Amino acid sequence: MAFVTRQLVRSMSSAAASASAKKITIKHVTVIGGGLMGAGIAQVAAATGHTVVLVDQTEDILAKSRKGIEDSLRKVAKKKFAENPKAADEFVAKTLSSISSSTDAAAVVHSTDLVVEAIVENLKVKKEFFQRLDKFAAEDTIFASNTSSLQITSIANATTRQDRFAGLHFFNPVPVMKLVEVIKTPMTSQKTFESLMDFSRNLGKHPVSCKDTPGFIVNRLLVPYLLEAVRLYERGDASKEDIDVAMKLGAGYPMGPFELLDYVGLDTTKFILDGWHEMDSKNPLFQPSPSLSKLVGEKKMGKKSGEGFYKYK
Ligand code: CAA
Ligand code: NAD
Repeated sequence: MAFVTRQLVRSMSSAAASASAKKITIKHVTVIGGGLMGAGIAQVAAATGHTVVLVDQTEDILAKSRKGIEDSLRKVAKKKFAENPKAADEFVAKTLSSISSSTDAAAVVHSTDLVVEAIVENLKVKKEFFQRLDKFAAEDTIFASNTSSLQITSIANATTRQDRFAGLHFFNPVPVMKLVEVIKTPMTSQKTFESLMDFSRNLGKHPVSCKDTPGFIVNRLLVPYLLEAVRLYERGDASKEDIDVAMKLGAGYPMGPFELLDYVGLDTTKFILDGWHEMDSKNPLFQPSPSLSKLVGEKKMGKKSGEGFYKYK
């Protein structure tokens, strides 16, 4: 009898161990930050059957995010249901009804499967944010940062859940760009990594992985290119308009580098560059740019603020 009980306990504990090693199916997502990226992530998650809570600092910002999501959904629906305007309206309404919002992250993370953070590109701010949230989120909840350039390990170390912490890097505009970079730190569990790879696929995206290195794959190549374009312009070698035309017509890029800088946000690009310069001040690719600093100093953040290298209506 004692043998049978021991066997039973052993098989029960191995079942529990394999259950805890199993991937999580992410159904409920909390997105922190309703700016360019957070709004897009919330939209795509809701449109693919997830329940979403979008968090930002004020109700005004959240109302603006919701309007942006609705406009973007209408573009998607127009294409997806070209022959059926009623189905398009239903898709927009159903997706919007899956997104609720809050200004209090701590109050809404008690039973979420995944927190995706898309707030300002600043290590101290991100660390403080996750350190606080760690106390309120459920044990199983996975934390992910959409950082463009910061080390995921440094952010994860602010929490007690390093095994349930990873990078989940989306691209702008999120509803259109198919890529997600999934970043596994040395502490991220395989279960967390696989749960996020599956989640990315469920969003209709193509996940790739990269070590926890500055800029991962895309930004390590893209940001130095963008800054080289600015230096070309700063030296007076060519106008920004000609550089943009050249890269579109000569290299097949959908946007020129100045159009893309404005689209990404000049503040975000400056945060990325400043962080890398601090890390490796001798690298010529990471040197500060006078024109970028000047525009950000004048609050010209690019398309989102109405002016950057170009002016927008
Ligand atoms: N939501 C939904 N659909 C959108 C959209 C949005 N926000 N923006 C564009 N679209 C759709 C349009 O409706 C349009 O659909 P149809 O083909 O059915 O008409 C399609 O996308 C193309 O849009 P447009 O015709 O308006 O304009 P475009 O052809 O110039 O494409 C673009 C716009 C997709 C943004 C394209 O210019 C592009 O790919 N640009 C480069 C973007 C890029 O490099 N992003 C990565 C930035 S780096 C990053 O994100 C990482 C980081 O950490 C900084
Ligand atoms: P954004 O400025 O458009 O939006 C950031 C939002 O976060 C704002 O609405 C702000 O009010 C909100 N916020 C700030 N602190 C907050 C807090 N403590 N709680 C809740 N909300 C808070 O910035 P973005 O372009 O969406 O970038 C967000 C993150 O995504 C950054 O880490 C950035 O590097 C990264 N990223 C940006 C791009 C891009 O092309 N812009 C692409 C990929 C990744």
